[in-house]
Amino acid sequence: MSETAKAQEIETAVEWLKSGRTVAMPTETVYGLAASIESPAGIANIFKLKQRPSFDPLIVHIHSLDQVKELASHWPDSARILAQKFWPGPLTIVVPKKPNVNNMITSGLETVGIRMPRHPIALALLKNAGVPLAAPSANIFGKISPTTSHHVRSEFPEPIKSNEIYVLEGGESDVGIESTVVRCEDDAITILRPGIITAKDITIAIANPQVKIQLANESGKHQSPGHTEHHYMPRQPLTVFWGTTEEILHHRKTASGFQEVQLPPEAALAARLLYASLREADQTKTDNGLILYRDVSKQIDADLWLAIDDRLKRAARHRLGQKTGQNTDQKTD
Ligand code: TXA
Ligand code: MG
Repeated sequence: MSETAKAQEIETAVEWLKSGRTVAMPTETVYGLAASIESPAGIANIFKLKQRPSFDPLIVHIHSLDQVKELASHWPDSARILAQKFWPGPLTIVVPKKPNVNNMITSGLETVGIRMPRHPIALALLKNAGVPLAAPSANIFGKISPTTSHHVRSEFPEPIKSNEIYVLEGGESDVGIESTVVRCEDDAITILRPGIITAKDITIAIANPQVKIQLANESGKHQSPGHTEHHYMPRQPLTVFWGTTEEILHHRKTASGFQEVQLPPEAALAARLLYASLREADQTKTDNGLILYRDVSKQIDADLWLAIDDRLKRAARHRLGQKTGQNTDQKTD
């Protein structure tokens, strides 16, 4: 597409945002369904289109650090350091919010999640819109996140036809799983949702033993409200088998009636392809649903596999084999 055509599309998208409609925005993690934070109608449309429960807060996207001042009532040093190191990029920073941030966006919480994406089309849209954009992943609540515009089109055929959603083309999302979400306080950082920016990356960036860096407790109150037990789910039931190469070979021999979801052994590539592979396998009608073999014998990049395992645990209807990769939880190499 020519530069002029791209600029024209962004102009159109900005017009849609101004009139309270939503725009499917490519980002480096997954595609988002965006609305202006100044448009209550646009925000309400996001919840309606996604069938998203009102308790699940939206991430606010920005293109410049100046916009943090409009949103955050406190910006701890830890947030400043992480933003400097990882923005623009796949990191969402949760901090106390300013009163003017609409409660619908934050689901009534006193905090707001902020992210500066690095995808050039997302940045251009944010810059031209001139206001921060609230955007969850562009999928029906609980389903698989989209990593191409084609996925968005197949998720929302009717609203796109009836001009409720304008889709910006941005190619394939190169990270492939959602941003790491961290809550930043003066003396602690809590990882609410693991992602490609890992606990080890954060520890190195902060370089201060006084700041406690912790993973959110699975069952505890520190979870992210929208990071529910069942999420990222294909239409057909998914079975995930965590095991060694030998255990997987053995199980494969006995299993039948499944469509297999293939994942490459390299973690960053596996993350990039995960959602597209699940969607593709889900196209084949099966007797027993989908099966994904997760080989835990090769644990290079254990921290990144933790983020992938987190998605797999939630996407799976049945979890088999070595329990869910939990034994890798605290490793950072
Ligand atoms: O990579 C991403 O983060 C993508 C792209 C579009 O930016 N967005 C995304 O949004 O994944 P969504 O809505 O699917 O997931 C946002 C997560 C939810 O689990 C939500 O509960 C959490 O972030 N979250 C948002 N604001 C929060 C807050 N104030 N406190 C705690 N968790 C928050
Ligand atoms: Mg989502």
